[in-house]
Amino acid sequence: MTTDSETETTTGVLVVGSGIAGCATALAAAREGARVTLATKATEPEHASSWWAQGGIAVTRDDPESFKDDILAASDGTADPDAVDVLVENARTAVEDVLFETLGVSFDAAGEEYEYGREAAHSKRRILHVDASTGRHILGPFLSHLASIDAVTIRQDTAALELITHEGRVHGAHLESDGEVEPVFAGTTVLATGGVGALYPQSTNPDGATGDGITMAALAGADVQDMEYVQFHPTVCVESDPFLVSEAVRGEGALLRNGDSVRFMPDYHEDAELAPRDVVARAVARERERTGSVTLDVSPLAFAEMFPDLAGMCESRGIGWQSGIPVAPAEHFLCGGIAVDSEGRTSLDRLFAVGECSRTGVHGANRLASTSLLEGLVWGLRAGRAATGVDPEPIEAPDLLDRDPALPERFGAEKSVRLHRVMAEHVGLERTPEGLRQATAVLRRLKGEVDAYTRTRTSRDLYELRGKSVTALLIARAAADNPSSTGCHYLSEEPTAHAD
Ligand code: SIN
Repeated sequence: MTTDSETETTTGVLVVGSGIAGCATALAAAREGARVTLATKATEPEHASSWWAQGGIAVTRDDPESFKDDILAASDGTADPDAVDVLVENARTAVEDVLFETLGVSFDAAGEEYEYGREAAHSKRRILHVDASTGRHILGPFLSHLASIDAVTIRQDTAALELITHEGRVHGAHLESDGEVEPVFAGTTVLATGGVGALYPQSTNPDGATGDGITMAALAGADVQDMEYVQFHPTVCVESDPFLVSEAVRGEGALLRNGDSVRFMPDYHEDAELAPRDVVARAVARERERTGSVTLDVSPLAFAEMFPDLAGMCESRGIGWQSGIPVAPAEHFLCGGIAVDSEGRTSLDRLFAVGECSRTGVHGANRLASTSLLEGLVWGLRAGRAATGVDPEPIEAPDLLDRDPALPERFGAEKSVRLHRVMAEHVGLERTPEGLRQATAVLRRLKGEVDAYTRTRTSRDLYELRGKSVTALLIARAAADNPSSTGCHYLSEEPTAHAD
């Protein structure tokens, strides 16, 4: 990634985050003539979740109605139909414009035709992919392209700590780089900070997915919604150095077998291995508990030919995929987040959010596979266009500079262990009203302990810990307040009349 190290304290559009949504926002805003600063904690492209996307990017072919129906069905009928319309109706143009024409991504093709893949809960083949490592083939070229645009300044290894707000309007953010904190004033600020994988002991996200953007927005008073809908991916290879095994593998015919070698998914859902992700994830967890293990049997397909990247990942870890890949569910995606409209506007003036940290309504209670890159791309382009044309207004900003940058090492480690424990035990795939009540109490205390430090220190580690403690509490509270099992929010015990 090329970096412009020159630090400017005002900009037209400040984008925070360097996944596909942040990149699309920066591109669209620059095309509109805005001066853009893209600030990212990442020092390498792979620090963004988009880099790790495997299956691909779903796109509308000649079937917009069935694509919409699939999204709504996977969400258990909870996705917002208007948001789904925005996604599906803009999908083709966004993909052609950015991925085909601007970036020239070489999606897998058979002759003249793209080779569209299939994944769970899609009624037909509509997923563009490059082997099973699509994200990196998009994000690498995207960042290089942005680095070549004069109007875009990319600031790597730069974390946003706090939004600068005045009377409900957002004026930029305090950015930390190399231990130095400075206010950067922006006409508009766009959060594209990704998800919350770091809240759970096992996740497909990179370590930096600490909920920073959601935390900054929520603390500034923005609406957040649907936080209880945390999606777990059903097939993560959990042997040493865990990695995702794409749903595309099941789309091509792989079968799930329990510890007794029995194929179990037909007993759980009529679509068996291609049932919605929340259903498969819970079934895998239950069968692991009941029979000791679950493996993905790839013998029905030419695995090494069709998925050479995944076959290579197995082989490099000494996993003999020929006898099945051991899998378990792991945290994968937050369906809720900062509530936004169809152009990424939040409830706060001049603040936008895009990608996984936002809640567009597209996913409802459970996201359909391979729609996250698409959502980031479509909403990023729309927000980037909508966010331009506002001049920065430098205001008197609170000074964060005089705080102690150090965070005692054991403090962070101890809090993270406690947080992982409570999230895994009580706010995971299956929840109970009592467990959620306990989790909320523990997390409230933990957040209080972290807050006490945040008042006197500015270290990035501490702000990441604050991100984790705030988003964990938002998730647990939203889950405790929702008495109905839907999609990713599954209560294994009904709330009783005494539950409050
Ligand atoms: C996968 O390849 O299974 C992940 C796709 C997604 O999360 O949408």
